[in-house]
Amino acid sequence: MLTRTTSSATPLLQELAARFPSNFVWGVATSAFQIEGAAVEDGKGASVWDSFCRKPGVIADNSDGQTACDHYHRWSEDLDLIASLGVGAYRFSVSWPRVRPGGSGAWNAKGLDFYERLVDGLLARGVTPYLTLNHWDLPDELQANGGWADRDTAYRFVEYARGMAARLGDRVASITTHNEPWVMSVLGHESGIFAPGVKDRATAMQVSHHLLLSHGLALQAMRAQGCQAKLGIVLNLAPLQPATDSAEDKAKTHLEDGLLLRWYMDPLFKGAYPADVLAHLGADAPHVQAGDMAAIGTSMDYLGVNYYSRGVVSAEGPWDTKNSGLPLTDMGWEIYPEGLTELLLRLHRDYAVPPLFVTENGCAMPDQLVAGQVQDNGRIDYIYRHIDAMAEAMRQGVRLDGYMVWSLMDNFEWAFGYEKRFGIVHVDYASQVRTLKHSALWYRDFLQHHKHVHANLLAAEA
Ligand code: FCB
Repeated sequence: MLTRTTSSATPLLQELAARFPSNFVWGVATSAFQIEGAAVEDGKGASVWDSFCRKPGVIADNSDGQTACDHYHRWSEDLDLIASLGVGAYRFSVSWPRVRPGGSGAWNAKGLDFYERLVDGLLARGVTPYLTLNHWDLPDELQANGGWADRDTAYRFVEYARGMAARLGDRVASITTHNEPWVMSVLGHESGIFAPGVKDRATAMQVSHHLLLSHGLALQAMRAQGCQAKLGIVLNLAPLQPATDSAEDKAKTHLEDGLLLRWYMDPLFKGAYPADVLAHLGADAPHVQAGDMAAIGTSMDYLGVNYYSRGVVSAEGPWDTKNSGLPLTDMGWEIYPEGLTELLLRLHRDYAVPPLFVTENGCAMPDQLVAGQVQDNGRIDYIYRHIDAMAEAMRQGVRLDGYMVWSLMDNFEWAFGYEKRFGIVHVDYASQVRTLKHSALWYRDFLQHHKHVHANLLAAEA
Protein backbone atom coordinates (compact mmCIF):
# COMPACT_ATOMS: atom_id res chain seq x y z
CA MET A 1 0.00 0.00 0.00
CA LEU A 2 0.84 3.65 -0.11
CA THR A 3 1.83 4.21 3.48
CA ARG A 4 5.26 5.56 4.29
CA THR A 5 6.56 7.30 7.34
CA THR A 6 9.67 8.62 5.63
CA SER A 7 9.93 11.90 3.76
CA SER A 8 9.28 10.10 0.48
CA ALA A 9 5.66 9.99 1.65
CA THR A 10 5.29 13.76 1.53
CA PRO A 11 3.89 14.03 -2.01
CA LEU A 12 1.44 11.20 -1.26
CA LEU A 13 0.26 12.87 1.90
CA GLN A 14 -0.11 16.21 0.15
CA GLU A 15 -2.09 14.57 -2.60
CA LEU A 16 -4.39 12.85 -0.13
CA ALA A 17 -4.82 16.00 1.98
CA ALA A 18 -5.70 18.04 -1.10
CA ARG A 19 -8.71 15.82 -1.71
CA PHE A 20 -10.42 17.23 1.38
CA PRO A 21 -11.88 20.75 1.58
CA SER A 22 -10.28 23.27 3.93
CA ASN A 23 -13.18 23.12 6.39
CA PHE A 24 -13.12 19.31 6.68
CA VAL A 25 -13.11 18.42 10.41
CA TRP A 26 -10.31 16.12 11.60
CA GLY A 27 -10.51 14.78 15.12
CA VAL A 28 -9.90 12.08 17.67
CA ALA A 29 -12.53 10.31 19.78
CA THR A 30 -12.93 8.74 23.24
CA SER A 31 -15.78 7.92 25.61
CA ALA A 32 -16.28 8.63 29.30
CA PHE A 33 -16.32 5.13 30.77
CA GLN A 34 -13.34 4.02 28.70
CA ILE A 35 -10.97 6.74 29.89
CA GLU A 36 -12.18 8.72 32.90
CA GLY A 37 -11.78 6.41 35.89
CA ALA A 38 -12.73 8.20 39.16
CA ALA A 39 -15.67 5.83 39.25
CA VAL A 40 -16.77 6.69 42.77
CA GLU A 41 -15.39 10.19 43.11
CA ASP A 42 -16.99 13.61 43.55
CA GLY A 43 -20.50 12.22 43.83
CA LYS A 44 -20.55 10.10 40.68
CA GLY A 45 -23.22 7.38 40.70
CA ALA A 46 -22.67 3.84 39.44
CA SER A 47 -23.34 3.01 35.80
CA VAL A 48 -24.42 -0.29 34.30
CA TRP A 49 -20.81 -0.82 33.20
CA ASP A 50 -19.51 -0.35 36.77
CA SER A 51 -21.85 -3.13 37.89
CA PHE A 52 -21.32 -5.35 34.85
CA CYS A 53 -17.54 -5.39 35.40
CA ARG A 54 -18.10 -6.93 38.84
CA LYS A 55 -19.73 -10.04 37.34
CA PRO A 56 -17.20 -12.86 37.24
CA GLY A 57 -15.84 -13.75 33.83
CA VAL A 58 -17.45 -11.05 31.71
CA ILE A 59 -14.34 -8.89 31.16
CA ALA A 60 -11.46 -10.71 29.48
CA ASP A 61 -8.75 -9.50 31.86
CA ASN A 62 -11.07 -9.15 34.89
CA SER A 63 -10.51 -5.41 34.83
CA ASP A 64 -12.94 -2.52 35.27
CA GLY A 65 -13.25 1.22 34.73
CA GLN A 66 -12.31 2.31 38.24
CA THR A 67 -9.11 4.02 37.09
CA ALA A 68 -8.97 3.50 33.31
CA CYS A 69 -6.73 6.27 31.88
CA ASP A 70 -7.32 8.42 34.96
CA HIS A 71 -8.49 11.11 32.57
CA TYR A 72 -10.75 12.64 35.24
CA HIS A 73 -7.59 13.84 36.98
CA ARG A 74 -5.30 14.17 33.96
CA TRP A 75 -7.76 15.98 31.69
CA SER A 76 -5.61 19.07 31.38
CA GLU A 77 -2.48 17.26 30.16
CA ASP A 78 -4.71 15.12 27.93
CA LEU A 79 -6.12 18.26 26.34
CA ASP A 80 -2.56 19.48 25.75
CA LEU A 81 -1.87 16.16 24.07
CA ILE A 82 -4.95 16.50 21.85
CA ALA A 83 -3.98 20.05 20.89
CA SER A 84 -0.41 18.92 20.12
CA LEU A 85 -1.75 16.61 17.40
CA GLY A 86 -3.15 19.57 15.51
CA VAL A 87 -6.68 18.15 15.34
CA GLY A 88 -9.60 20.51 15.00
CA ALA A 89 -12.07 18.40 16.97
CA TYR A 90 -12.37 16.15 19.99
CA ARG A 91 -15.31 13.77 20.34
CA PHE A 92 -15.96 12.77 23.96
CA SER A 93 -18.94 11.56 25.97
CA VAL A 94 -20.53 12.72 29.19
CA SER A 95 -21.04 10.15 31.91
CA TRP A 96 -24.74 10.45 32.76
CA PRO A 97 -24.27 9.08 36.33
CA ARG A 98 -21.47 11.60 36.92
CA VAL A 99 -23.74 14.56 36.23
CA ARG A 100 -27.03 13.10 37.51
CA PRO A 101 -26.07 10.13 39.67
CA GLY A 102 -29.43 8.37 39.89
CA GLY A 103 -30.50 9.20 36.34
CA SER A 104 -33.29 11.36 37.78
CA GLY A 105 -33.45 13.60 40.82
CA ALA A 106 -30.57 15.79 41.92
CA TRP A 107 -27.82 16.92 39.57
CA ASN A 108 -24.20 16.70 40.68
CA ALA A 109 -22.47 20.10 40.53
CA LYS A 110 -18.97 18.61 40.68
CA GLY A 111 -19.69 16.34 37.73
CA LEU A 112 -21.10 19.19 35.68
CA ASP A 113 -18.09 21.33 36.55
CA PHE A 114 -15.78 18.64 35.18
CA TYR A 115 -17.38 18.85 31.73
CA GLU A 116 -17.41 22.66 31.91
CA ARG A 117 -13.66 22.58 32.47
CA LEU A 118 -13.22 20.08 29.67
CA VAL A 119 -15.22 22.09 27.14
CA ASP A 120 -13.64 25.41 28.11
CA GLY A 121 -10.21 23.78 28.12
CA LEU A 122 -10.73 22.49 24.58
CA LEU A 123 -11.91 25.87 23.33
CA ALA A 124 -8.97 27.60 24.99
CA ARG A 125 -6.68 25.26 23.05
CA GLY A 126 -8.45 25.84 19.74
CA VAL A 127 -10.07 22.39 19.63
CA THR A 128 -13.80 22.14 18.94
CA PRO A 129 -15.80 19.92 21.34
CA TYR A 130 -18.15 17.26 19.93
CA LEU A 131 -20.28 15.91 22.78
CA THR A 132 -22.02 12.52 23.01
CA LEU A 133 -24.70 12.08 25.68
CA ASN A 134 -24.95 8.29 25.81
CA HIS A 135 -21.90 6.16 25.16
CA TRP A 136 -23.44 3.21 27.05
CA ASP A 137 -22.93 4.12 30.74
CA LEU A 138 -26.56 4.29 31.87
CA PRO A 139 -27.06 5.14 35.57
CA ASP A 140 -27.45 1.89 37.48
CA GLU A 141 -30.48 3.19 39.35
CA LEU A 142 -32.37 3.43 36.07
CA GLN A 143 -31.33 -0.11 35.21
CA ALA A 144 -32.88 -1.22 38.50
CA ASN A 145 -36.19 0.04 37.10
CA GLY A 146 -35.76 -1.80 33.81
CA GLY A 147 -33.21 0.44 32.09
CA TRP A 148 -33.71 1.00 28.37
CA ALA A 149 -36.34 -1.73 28.29
CA ASP A 150 -38.55 0.64 30.31
CA ARG A 151 -40.16 3.48 28.35
CA ASP A 152 -39.69 5.80 31.30
CA THR A 153 -35.91 5.76 30.71
CA ALA A 154 -36.55 7.54 27.40
CA TYR A 155 -38.17 10.42 29.31
CA ARG A 156 -35.32 10.53 31.84
CA PHE A 157 -32.91 10.72 28.90
CA VAL A 158 -34.79 13.71 27.51
CA GLU A 159 -34.35 15.50 30.87
CA TYR A 160 -30.65 14.65 30.84
CA ALA A 161 -30.30 15.96 27.26
CA ARG A 162 -32.07 19.20 28.18
CA GLY A 163 -29.83 19.68 31.19
CA MET A 164 -26.62 19.14 29.25
CA ALA A 165 -27.76 21.27 26.32
CA ALA A 166 -28.65 24.10 28.71
CA ARG A 167 -25.24 23.83 30.32
CA LEU A 168 -22.94 23.25 27.33
CA GLY A 169 -25.02 23.68 24.17
CA ASP A 170 -23.64 27.17 23.60
CA ARG A 171 -20.04 25.94 23.38
CA VAL A 172 -20.02 22.50 21.78
CA ALA A 173 -20.27 22.10 18.01
CA SER A 174 -22.56 19.12 18.24
CA ILE A 175 -24.54 16.95 20.61
CA THR A 176 -24.95 13.30 19.68
CA THR A 177 -27.78 11.56 21.50
CA HIS A 178 -26.67 7.92 21.36
CA ASN A 179 -23.53 6.10 20.32
CA GLU A 180 -24.32 2.87 18.51
CA PRO A 181 -27.86 1.90 19.58
CA TRP A 182 -27.37 -1.52 17.89
CA VAL A 183 -24.59 -2.34 20.37
CA MET A 184 -26.65 -1.38 23.43
CA SER A 185 -29.63 -3.29 22.09
CA VAL A 186 -28.09 -6.47 20.69
CA LEU A 187 -24.82 -6.87 22.61
CA GLY A 188 -26.35 -5.50 25.82
CA HIS A 189 -29.71 -7.28 25.74
CA GLU A 190 -29.68 -10.16 23.23
CA SER A 191 -26.23 -11.78 23.33
CA GLY A 192 -25.62 -10.16 26.72
CA ILE A 193 -21.85 -9.87 26.24
CA PHE A 194 -22.03 -6.16 27.13
CA ALA A 195 -23.75 -4.38 30.02
CA PRO A 196 -26.32 -4.90 31.35
CA GLY A 197 -25.88 -8.53 30.22
CA VAL A 198 -29.52 -9.37 29.44
CA LYS A 199 -30.17 -12.26 27.01
CA ASP A 200 -33.59 -11.80 25.48
CA ARG A 201 -34.37 -10.75 21.92
CA ALA A 202 -37.75 -9.15 22.62
CA THR A 203 -36.13 -7.01 25.31
CA ALA A 204 -33.33 -6.06 22.93
CA MET A 205 -35.79 -4.89 20.28
CA GLN A 206 -37.79 -2.91 22.82
CA VAL A 207 -34.55 -1.30 23.95
CA SER A 208 -33.73 -0.29 20.37
CA HIS A 209 -37.13 1.34 20.05
CA HIS A 210 -36.75 3.28 23.30
CA LEU A 211 -33.28 4.43 22.27
CA LEU A 212 -34.60 5.72 18.95
CA LEU A 213 -37.64 7.29 20.59
CA SER A 214 -35.55 9.05 23.23
CA HIS A 215 -33.23 10.29 20.47
CA GLY A 216 -36.09 11.97 18.60
CA LEU A 217 -37.71 13.39 21.73
CA ALA A 218 -34.37 14.71 22.98
CA LEU A 219 -33.72 16.45 19.66
CA GLN A 220 -37.10 18.15 19.87
CA ALA A 221 -36.57 19.17 23.50
CA MET A 222 -33.07 20.56 22.92
CA ARG A 223 -34.20 22.53 19.87
CA ALA A 224 -37.25 23.84 21.76
CA GLN A 225 -34.96 25.39 24.36
CA GLY A 226 -32.91 27.11 21.64
CA CYS A 227 -29.87 24.84 21.61
CA GLN A 228 -27.45 26.08 18.94
CA ALA A 229 -25.29 22.95 18.70
CA LYS A 230 -25.81 20.62 15.74
CA LEU A 231 -27.82 17.55 16.76
CA GLY A 232 -27.61 13.98 15.55
CA ILE A 233 -26.98 10.31 16.33
CA VAL A 234 -24.07 7.90 15.75
CA LEU A 235 -24.66 4.45 14.25
CA ASN A 236 -22.29 1.52 13.84
CA LEU A 237 -22.74 0.41 10.26
CA ALA A 238 -21.04 -1.98 7.88
CA PRO A 239 -21.66 -3.26 4.40
CA LEU A 240 -22.59 -6.95 4.58
CA GLN A 241 -21.68 -9.38 1.83
CA PRO A 242 -22.89 -12.93 1.29
CA ALA A 243 -20.20 -15.60 1.71
CA THR A 244 -21.29 -17.24 -1.57
CA ASP A 245 -23.74 -16.56 -4.39
CA SER A 246 -26.23 -19.05 -2.95
CA ALA A 247 -29.82 -17.89 -2.48
CA GLU A 248 -29.58 -18.83 1.23
CA ASP A 249 -26.52 -16.67 1.84
CA LYS A 250 -28.07 -13.76 -0.03
CA ALA A 251 -31.35 -13.99 1.87
CA LYS A 252 -29.53 -14.14 5.21
CA THR A 253 -27.40 -11.15 4.20
CA HIS A 254 -30.50 -9.12 3.41
CA LEU A 255 -32.02 -9.96 6.80
CA GLU A 256 -28.80 -9.17 8.70
CA ASP A 257 -28.57 -5.87 6.86
CA GLY A 258 -32.14 -5.25 7.97
CA LEU A 259 -31.26 -5.87 11.61
CA LEU A 260 -28.05 -3.82 11.58
CA LEU A 261 -28.61 -0.94 9.17
CA ARG A 262 -32.21 -0.65 7.95
CA TRP A 263 -33.62 -1.16 11.48
CA TYR A 264 -32.07 2.21 12.40
CA MET A 265 -31.83 4.07 9.09
CA ASP A 266 -35.42 3.38 7.98
CA PRO A 267 -37.19 4.79 11.07
CA LEU A 268 -34.76 7.71 11.25
CA PHE A 269 -35.17 8.64 7.57
CA LYS A 270 -38.21 6.82 6.17
CA GLY A 271 -40.64 6.83 9.07
CA ALA A 272 -41.05 3.06 9.56
CA TYR A 273 -39.27 -0.09 10.67
CA PRO A 274 -38.44 -2.38 7.73
CA ALA A 275 -41.38 -4.71 7.03
CA ASP A 276 -39.25 -7.80 6.37
CA VAL A 277 -37.49 -7.43 9.73
CA LEU A 278 -40.78 -6.89 11.58
CA ALA A 279 -42.11 -10.08 9.97
CA HIS A 280 -38.96 -11.95 10.96
CA LEU A 281 -39.21 -10.75 14.57
CA GLY A 282 -42.87 -11.67 14.94
CA ALA A 283 -43.82 -11.48 18.62
CA ASP A 284 -40.37 -10.10 19.48
CA ALA A 285 -41.07 -6.85 17.58
CA PRO A 286 -41.20 -3.80 19.85
CA HIS A 287 -44.35 -2.13 21.13
CA VAL A 288 -44.72 1.18 19.35
CA GLN A 289 -47.12 3.88 20.51
CA ALA A 290 -48.94 6.43 18.39
CA GLY A 291 -46.64 9.31 17.54
CA ASP A 292 -43.40 7.40 18.20
CA MET A 293 -42.39 7.05 14.57
CA ALA A 294 -42.91 10.76 13.90
CA ALA A 295 -40.72 11.60 16.91
CA ILE A 296 -37.98 9.22 15.74
CA GLY A 297 -38.02 10.86 12.31
CA THR A 298 -37.24 14.33 13.74
CA SER A 299 -34.75 15.91 11.36
CA MET A 300 -31.06 15.76 12.22
CA ASP A 301 -28.21 18.14 11.45
CA TYR A 302 -25.72 15.32 10.81
CA LEU A 303 -25.41 11.55 10.96
CA GLY A 304 -22.34 9.97 12.55
CA VAL A 305 -21.09 6.66 11.18
CA ASN A 306 -18.66 4.40 13.03
CA TYR A 307 -16.88 2.15 10.56
CA TYR A 308 -14.38 -0.59 11.35
CA SER A 309 -14.93 -3.45 8.91
CA ARG A 310 -17.37 -5.22 6.61
CA GLY A 311 -19.40 -8.27 7.57
CA VAL A 312 -19.54 -11.55 5.67
CA VAL A 313 -22.75 -13.53 6.10
CA SER A 314 -23.17 -17.26 5.65
CA ALA A 315 -26.42 -19.15 6.10
CA GLU A 316 -24.35 -21.96 7.63
CA GLY A 317 -23.41 -19.96 10.73
CA PRO A 318 -21.00 -17.31 11.95
CA TRP A 319 -18.31 -16.38 9.45
CA ASP A 320 -14.71 -16.94 10.53
CA THR A 321 -12.80 -13.88 9.30
CA LYS A 322 -9.68 -16.03 8.96
CA ASN A 323 -11.33 -17.57 5.89
CA SER A 324 -11.37 -14.28 4.01
CA GLY A 325 -7.65 -14.10 3.34
CA LEU A 326 -7.72 -10.40 4.22
CA PRO A 327 -5.37 -8.89 6.80
CA LEU A 328 -6.98 -8.81 10.26
CA THR A 329 -6.67 -6.38 13.16
CA ASP A 330 -5.97 -7.51 16.72
CA MET A 331 -9.76 -7.82 17.16
CA GLY A 332 -9.81 -10.35 14.31
CA TRP A 333 -11.71 -7.82 12.18
CA GLU A 334 -10.97 -7.77 8.44
CA ILE A 335 -9.22 -4.69 7.12
CA TYR A 336 -11.54 -3.63 4.34
CA PRO A 337 -11.32 0.12 3.58
CA GLU A 338 -13.31 -0.12 0.33
CA GLY A 339 -16.27 -1.03 2.53
CA LEU A 340 -16.27 2.52 3.87
CA THR A 341 -16.63 3.96 0.36
CA GLU A 342 -19.37 1.45 -0.35
CA LEU A 343 -21.22 2.22 2.88
CA LEU A 344 -21.10 6.01 2.48
CA LEU A 345 -22.31 5.73 -1.13
CA ARG A 346 -25.15 3.49 -0.08
CA LEU A 347 -26.33 5.86 2.69
CA HIS A 348 -26.17 8.74 0.20
CA ARG A 349 -28.08 6.74 -2.41
CA ASP A 350 -30.77 5.08 -0.29
CA TYR A 351 -31.57 7.78 2.27
CA ALA A 352 -32.04 11.57 2.40
CA VAL A 353 -29.12 11.89 4.79
CA PRO A 354 -27.88 15.13 6.36
CA PRO A 355 -24.11 15.79 6.22
CA LEU A 356 -22.22 12.66 7.28
CA PHE A 357 -19.34 12.32 9.72
CA VAL A 358 -17.14 9.28 10.24
CA THR A 359 -17.26 9.53 14.02
CA GLU A 360 -15.09 6.45 14.69
CA ASN A 361 -12.53 4.55 12.65
CA GLY A 362 -9.37 2.84 13.78
CA CYS A 363 -7.94 -0.50 14.80
CA ALA A 364 -6.54 -2.52 17.66
CA MET A 365 -3.01 -3.71 16.89
CA PRO A 366 -0.54 -5.78 18.92
CA ASP A 367 1.53 -2.69 19.73
CA GLN A 368 4.90 -2.90 21.45
CA LEU A 369 6.47 -0.01 23.31
CA VAL A 370 10.20 -0.39 22.62
CA ALA A 371 12.72 2.20 23.74
CA GLY A 372 10.01 4.82 24.05
CA GLN A 373 8.54 4.17 20.59
CA VAL A 374 5.56 2.34 19.17
CA GLN A 375 6.12 1.56 15.50
CA ASP A 376 2.51 0.87 14.59
CA ASN A 377 2.85 0.92 10.82
CA GLY A 378 -0.16 -1.35 10.46
CA ARG A 379 -2.33 1.31 12.11
CA ILE A 380 -0.89 4.05 9.87
CA ASP A 381 -1.72 1.93 6.86
CA TYR A 382 -5.24 1.32 8.18
CA ILE A 383 -5.95 5.01 8.77
CA TYR A 384 -4.36 6.07 5.49
CA ARG A 385 -6.46 3.65 3.49
CA HIS A 386 -9.70 4.65 5.22
CA ILE A 387 -9.02 8.34 4.61
CA ASP A 388 -8.39 7.43 0.98
CA ALA A 389 -11.71 5.51 0.95
CA MET A 390 -13.54 8.59 2.25
CA ALA A 391 -11.99 10.77 -0.45
CA GLU A 392 -13.26 8.33 -3.06
CA ALA A 393 -16.81 8.49 -1.64
CA MET A 394 -16.65 12.29 -1.70
CA ARG A 395 -15.41 12.23 -5.29
CA GLN A 396 -18.53 10.23 -6.11
CA GLY A 397 -20.79 12.86 -4.56
CA VAL A 398 -21.13 12.06 -0.84
CA ARG A 399 -21.26 15.05 1.52
CA LEU A 400 -18.85 14.08 4.29
CA ASP A 401 -17.84 16.75 6.81
CA GLY A 402 -15.43 15.09 9.20
CA TYR A 403 -13.42 12.14 10.45
CA MET A 404 -12.50 11.11 14.00
CA VAL A 405 -9.87 8.48 14.78
CA TRP A 406 -10.84 5.89 17.36
CA SER A 407 -9.10 6.39 19.61
CA LEU A 408 -7.03 9.22 21.02
CA MET A 409 -5.41 6.80 23.45
CA ASP A 410 -5.45 3.17 24.54
CA ASN A 411 -8.37 2.60 26.89
CA PHE A 412 -10.85 0.18 28.45
CA GLU A 413 -12.13 -1.78 25.46
CA TRP A 414 -15.35 -3.00 27.11
CA ALA A 415 -15.51 -6.80 27.44
CA PHE A 416 -11.90 -7.01 26.21
CA GLY A 417 -10.66 -4.89 29.11
CA TYR A 418 -7.24 -3.33 28.57
CA GLU A 419 -5.97 -6.12 26.32
CA LYS A 420 -6.92 -4.42 23.07
CA ARG A 421 -5.13 -1.20 22.21
CA PHE A 422 -6.94 1.17 19.84
CA GLY A 423 -5.05 4.37 20.67
CA ILE A 424 -2.79 6.46 18.48
CA VAL A 425 -1.29 7.34 21.86
CA HIS A 426 0.06 4.51 24.01
CA VAL A 427 -0.95 4.37 27.68
CA ASP A 428 1.18 2.61 30.29
CA TYR A 429 -1.58 1.82 32.78
CA ALA A 430 0.79 1.35 35.72
CA SER A 431 2.39 4.79 35.42
CA GLN A 432 -0.31 6.48 33.29
CA VAL A 433 2.46 7.74 31.00
CA ARG A 434 1.21 8.63 27.51
CA THR A 435 3.50 8.09 24.50
CA LEU A 436 2.67 9.18 20.97
CA LYS A 437 2.73 6.13 18.70
CA HIS A 438 4.08 6.54 15.17
CA SER A 439 0.46 6.69 13.98
CA ALA A 440 -0.08 9.83 16.09
CA LEU A 441 3.02 11.42 14.53
CA TRP A 442 1.79 10.39 11.10
CA TYR A 443 -1.70 11.85 11.73
CA ARG A 444 -0.12 15.09 12.96
CA ASP A 445 1.98 15.29 9.76
CA PHE A 446 -1.03 14.57 7.61
CA LEU A 447 -3.06 17.32 9.30
CA GLN A 448 -0.20 19.76 8.80
CA HIS A 449 -0.20 18.89 5.10
CA HIS A 450 -3.94 19.49 5.00
CA LYS A 451 -3.46 22.96 6.50
CA HIS A 452 -0.54 23.81 4.23
CA VAL A 453 -2.21 22.61 1.06
CA HIS A 454 -5.10 24.98 1.68
CA ALA A 455 -2.92 27.85 2.85
CA ASN A 456 -0.94 27.51 -0.39
CA LEU A 457 -4.10 27.42 -2.47
CA LEU A 458 -5.34 30.58 -0.78
CA ALA A 459 -2.01 32.29 -1.32
CA ALA A 460 -2.04 31.28 -4.99
CA GLU A 461 -5.53 32.76 -5.41
CA ALA A 462 -4.61 36.03 -3.73
C1 FCB B 1 -17.13 1.04 19.06
C2 FCB B 1 -17.35 1.82 20.33
C3 FCB B 1 -16.11 2.37 20.96
C4 FCB B 1 -14.95 1.40 20.84
C5 FCB B 1 -14.80 0.91 19.43
C6 FCB B 1 -13.64 -0.02 19.21
O1 FCB B 1 -18.15 0.10 18.94
O2 FCB B 1 -18.23 2.91 20.09
O3 FCB B 1 -16.40 2.71 22.28
O4 FCB B 1 -15.11 0.37 21.73
O5 FCB B 1 -15.96 0.28 19.01
